[in-house]
Amino acid sequence: MARLSVIGTGYLGVTHAACMASLGHSVVALDIDEVKIAALSVGTVPFHEPELPELLQASIASGNLAFTSSWSDVAVGADVHFLCVGTPQSAGSDAADMGQIRAAVATLAPLLSKPCIVVGKSTVPVGTAQWIADYFEANSPAGKDVHLVWNPEFLREGFAVKDTLYPDRIVLGVSHSSDVEVLREVYASALKNDAPLISTDYATAELVKVAANAFLATKISFINAFADLADKVGADVGTLADAIGHDSRIGRRFLNAGIGFGGGCLPKDIRALQARANELGLGEQFEFLKNVDSVNKSRRARMVELAREALGSIDGKTITILGAAFKPDSDDIRDSPALDIALALANSGAAVQLHDPVALPQVRARNLPVTAIDDVSEAFANADLVLHLTEWKNYRDLNPATLGEKVSCKRIIDGRNVLDREVWSNAGWHITYLGKPGSLAAL
Ligand code: UDX
Repeated sequence: MARLSVIGTGYLGVTHAACMASLGHSVVALDIDEVKIAALSVGTVPFHEPELPELLQASIASGNLAFTSSWSDVAVGADVHFLCVGTPQSAGSDAADMGQIRAAVATLAPLLSKPCIVVGKSTVPVGTAQWIADYFEANSPAGKDVHLVWNPEFLREGFAVKDTLYPDRIVLGVSHSSDVEVLREVYASALKNDAPLISTDYATAELVKVAANAFLATKISFINAFADLADKVGADVGTLADAIGHDSRIGRRFLNAGIGFGGGCLPKDIRALQARANELGLGEQFEFLKNVDSVNKSRRARMVELAREALGSIDGKTITILGAAFKPDSDDIRDSPALDIALALANSGAAVQLHDPVALPQVRARNLPVTAIDDVSEAFANADLVLHLTEWKNYRDLNPATLGEKVSCKRIIDGRNVLDREVWSNAGWHITYLGKPGSLAAL
């Protein structure tokens, strides 16, 4: 089994470290945040991710996984180093902030004194991998014997463990074909389960990740533009998505209309791609991503507008919001459409009663002008309007009859188009959707 290190313990790094250790590899994971390292060392995952705490604890107990904040532990203790640090959006520009990548590479390079492979997994602007490879060659004692592989990561929050253990595909950007054999051993389990392996150059590997995310974001904004059109003409965007989704060239997935995408990846990745395309003189070709972004942002404004239409005026009204996370099975509130809408309504004078099954600690930590309520039925108290904004499964199982007794007005707008119209209507609620017939008329 291989000796691996994982540099950076965010969603990607912790999941990768725990999964690789669970497969029998010996893994040491590093972060510069010592508080995080202390928590991870005792098996505490600092975010919500199904299956991960159990896997982390089992991997620590097996002796296969250790955490450190010492770079020399990493340099000495591993032969394959996975670079998993964040590349968030830069403050004040659309480009990716490469500070964490640069810092990690600059710290690691002088410590690499024997042959090893560094495997980049972070999402980066195309061209970064070649720069990193050159940097290691010029600045590591092992020089040319430090090889770089670019291996983008496609895991989804909420399914991170499954996506890591059973990836759809493994992409390797390499400059030495012998490195593919080493990575084949590291990923032997996934390959045994028939994950396709695509071996290519650095630039293609980097682009695979940003192209995949740009395509997914485009699909969502495409169907959301049709949701607006459906509202204008009385069509049903759900049926439309089902019908076009039967065409296997199109596919049904990622065609769920609603308040759009958020999170730590899709929004910043499409912006970083545009910024990189601009730098390369291809701004016009990638202009469409501006529209993808603006259609997506307009979903949030549309929901606020629908609330205003429903209430006459937002000021002084009580609004219950179901969901704060950017998607279910996650407590991530980065660029969350639900939270953005909650804040816009609060800033327009509404008393916002916000519920989420797991994300409320993150909301409370940000000291926002909303009331975070742990008990979902309490969150309905005296509401003039309810908005369903993150499609947690337990919201689909709510009892609208009981909840109807708590509210001032039985009106709900489903920003994710998943609640059962019949169930809510039969309990006396006006339920409306985005891009489904009757939506606007009912208001
Ligand atoms: C995404 C990519 O899917 C993943 O491959 C990549 O590694 C990281 O970015 P993630 O950010 O976890 O993963 O979320 P994803 O499941 O892709 O959902 C993104 C957003 O799109 C969510 O806000 C979700 O609610 C929204 N979405 C998704 C829709 O609005 N409609 C859909 O049909 C699907």
